[in-house]
Amino acid sequence: MWRVKPLDAILATAEKKSLHRSLGPVQLTLLGIGAVIGTGIFVLTATAAQKAGPGMMISFIIAGAVCAVAALCYSELASMVPVAGSAYTYSYAVMGELVAWLVGWALILEYALGASAVAVGWSGHMIGVLGDMGIHLPHALTVGPKIAFGGFLEGGEVGGIMNLPAVIITALVTMLLVIGTKESATVNAVLVAIKVAALVLFLFLTLPLVTGHMANFHPFTPRGWGNPLGSTGTGVLGAAASIFFAYVGFDAVSTAAEETRNPQRNVPIGLIGSLAICTVFYLLVAAGVIGSWGAQPLGPAPGHFFADGSPELYGSAACTAAHAPTVCSKEALAYILHAVNHPFAGYLVGLAATIALPSVVLLMMYGQTRIFFVMARDGLLPQGLSAVHRRFRTPWVITIVTGVVVALAAAFFPVGQLADYSNAGTLFAFAAVSLGVMILRFTDPSRPRPFRTPALFVVAPLSIMGCVVLFLSLGPQSKGLFVVWTILGLILYFAFGFWNSNVRRGIVEVGELEEGAGPGAVAPMPGAPAPTQDRT
Ligand code: ALA
Repeated sequence: MWRVKPLDAILATAEKKSLHRSLGPVQLTLLGIGAVIGTGIFVLTATAAQKAGPGMMISFIIAGAVCAVAALCYSELASMVPVAGSAYTYSYAVMGELVAWLVGWALILEYALGASAVAVGWSGHMIGVLGDMGIHLPHALTVGPKIAFGGFLEGGEVGGIMNLPAVIITALVTMLLVIGTKESATVNAVLVAIKVAALVLFLFLTLPLVTGHMANFHPFTPRGWGNPLGSTGTGVLGAAASIFFAYVGFDAVSTAAEETRNPQRNVPIGLIGSLAICTVFYLLVAAGVIGSWGAQPLGPAPGHFFADGSPELYGSAACTAAHAPTVCSKEALAYILHAVNHPFAGYLVGLAATIALPSVVLLMMYGQTRIFFVMARDGLLPQGLSAVHRRFRTPWVITIVTGVVVALAAAFFPVGQLADYSNAGTLFAFAAVSLGVMILRFTDPSRPRPFRTPALFVVAPLSIMGCVVLFLSLGPQSKGLFVVWTILGLILYFAFGFWNSNVRRGIVEVGELEEGAGPGAVAPMPGAPAPTQDRT
């Protein structure tokens, strides 16, 4: 189980691709922003407010800082081993099969449940936009049924059946992936423009209101700072652990290292640039939210608070009244604009999210299919899963399996919970990569590194520490789910992967779709990398 996949074999595959180095710092930054802005800021702002109140501004800074150090570590490996299956592949080459399996297994949480979270976020906006047009879906078709399973899987509301819009968008995206749709550079640029325009409109209308409502900033940390060793998953740190989701996706930049001119200079500019721009946007948006409509958490009694996204919160007197507070909304930014008497702007922001979020679902599901594909090709999952469609040249079996998993989770669970589960997997993978990059400096010091992480032995430990603190700051359900998920993964590995691994059988083929083979192919669109979320 400690066997490694030789780096040289991986690199030989990578070389066959010989991607054109065309990306500059501006395109990289745009790429990062395109992959990052999504459900996190448009929806989870309400979750963060319920967990931390106005202190969520600090949560945004903490989460952004952890991402920045993790991103710097990620880039060194991404530039050395620029192949599909990244975090998983890096771990296979550096720390052996068992760790690689666990990372791949955790990435399923990140990508599949991340896609579900974005699909549910999209659903909230779609429902809002339809509502603006006078079309109201039955409530039972917008939430799942009440589920309570062992204390770590809880969701839905009494009377709910399923989140139908989230299931529909997942089905549509699955279809697009099966027929081999890629997001082109032009589409990415247009979607970035739409998302940024929506945020700018929000800031333009809400920031002027801040000075008149400074009282909204008090108390600043109504639920304290949070305690990573405690079990509530609230406070400023708890909100940071949730809002971390708003930054996920920046790694699209690391993965594009192989297509970047002068990666040593441009990759960090792209990474830090997109993270910095998003952090500033997020902070301003948080200030606009707090200053215009308030972000105080709600509770049944003074000093007590509802769980974020819970039926108790949504069913509370404050949430069912007219002029409900921010924390009650499932489309926070659009809702606030309605609340502060800009209904048309609210409609536009909702529409912008409705148009732009499906591409985030697509990127995440695409990433998931790629991870499954490489793991199946390596023999750690049944090889039949990696079947490629004759006509579309896409890994259709795995794409449909992914679609079903994503749709089921999206149908039954609330967005905040899905995002937290996804974060647990992401934080584990980031910590593993940060460790791997340090190990590789010792075990393989002379291999060329197109990008070297500056001050690695400061940055990587900081990254690991940040990931651990954020992981511990997640709520008990998410940590519980992660533990159960990992145990399940270990059982599966020793029951199947250990025996069927290609490396065990002496086959060191590196699983990749062939050039030109649908979205799995690595051929870039002119001027931009095709698979922007390709961080398997
Ligand atoms: N950062 C992405 C989002 O917030 C995943 O939707």
